[in-house]
Amino acid sequence: MGKRGIRSAKETERWKRKFEEERALYREIQEAADDILRSVNFNSTKEHIQHGNMTVNDHCIRVAKYSLALCKKLHIPCSRKDLIRGALLHDYFLYDWHTPDKRKPHRLHGFYHPGRALKNASAEYDLTPREREIIKKHMWPLTVVPPTCREAWIVTTADKWCSLMETFGLHRGHGKILEKVKYLQLEESES
Ligand SMILES: [Fe+2]
Ligand SMILES: [Fe+2]
Repeated sequence: MGKRGIRSAKETERWKRKFEEERALYREIQEAADDILRSVNFNSTKEHIQHGNMTVNDHCIRVAKYSLALCKKLHIPCSRKDLIRGALLHDYFLYDWHTPDKRKPHRLHGFYHPGRALKNASAEYDLTPREREIIKKHMWPLTVVPPTCREAWIVTTADKWCSLMETFGLHRGHGKILEKVKYLQLEESES
């Protein structure tokens, strides 16, 4: 194997690890919130754009994934199930905030959508106090009163990071990692 082959093999391993880590996070999200992920209303958020070309559905799943990753990176002990479910429901406002209608203009969406999300989520799920806190406070400091549990702090941080990346199109999706692994494996087999 030449130098290029060795470098490529190492890179493939790195991307494969990344891919496996991603897969483990998605598996954990599915185990903790299969009911939410399969629900009609949660799936209806695939029709609504959040930032850039990212749907609300993808955004919420990404926030759950980054919340778990942040937890791991900073060694923060927390309720992972509450973290995941709260993150998935944090933007459960169920309307397209880019298309205001006359009756419900969404000019103050930033201020009001946590309350709307909480109302919608409470109507469908038996929320824990932490999940409620995550949804209610995720727009802090816009919502003035700071979060009172670690899970809500983690989700508000992950949400801001994801929103920034999505707004500027800097996010790297699961698909891209898979593509990269496949590409490197092909390069490796050719060298
Ligand atoms: Fe939000
Ligand atoms: Fe969000």
